Amino acid sequence: MDNKEIAKELKSLCKIDIDAFFAYTETFRHIDIPDVKRNVERFRDDHERHIKDLSDEIRSLGDEPPKFSRDFKGYVLDIFTKVRSLTGVEGALKALKTGEETTNRRYGDAVKLDFPERILNLVNKNFKDEQGHLSYIEQAIKNQVWKKAA
Ligand SMILES: [Fe+2]
Repeated sequence: MDNKEIAKELKSLCKIDIDAFFAYTETFRHIDIPDVKRNVERFRDDHERHIKDLSDEIRSLGDEPPKFSRDFKGYVLDIFTKVRSLTGVEGALKALKTGEETTNRRYGDAVKLDFPERILNLVNKNFKDEQGHLSYIEQAIKNQVWKKAA
């Protein structure tokens, strides 16, 4: 892969992380269980770090990272629709699960690419975070945490 191709892939991942960041921000007000809220805030911080790290790499490849702004063209729109139609912690977690399935799919594809080692390490590290987010959210839904808190 040449620098241009690498940057293109990283930009696409970065956009997904930006969408995820705003999706998390949007769901906060629906989550009133302190333990769940703490985890979800931590996941949003992970996405913020991914955006920063990917943006640094994109710049060092001589390209411009995507703008860190809310963009309704991504999968975020779907999530917002879901959050609006479902309410409370259950709705928020189910919406976030859809989002995390997308980030996991995209990172799962990206780790198979022929990246230079340093970049592959970063993409792998981010993918691990994503796997952790999805597995926590799946478990919380399975345990119906909103019922236990009520
Ligand atoms: Fe995530």
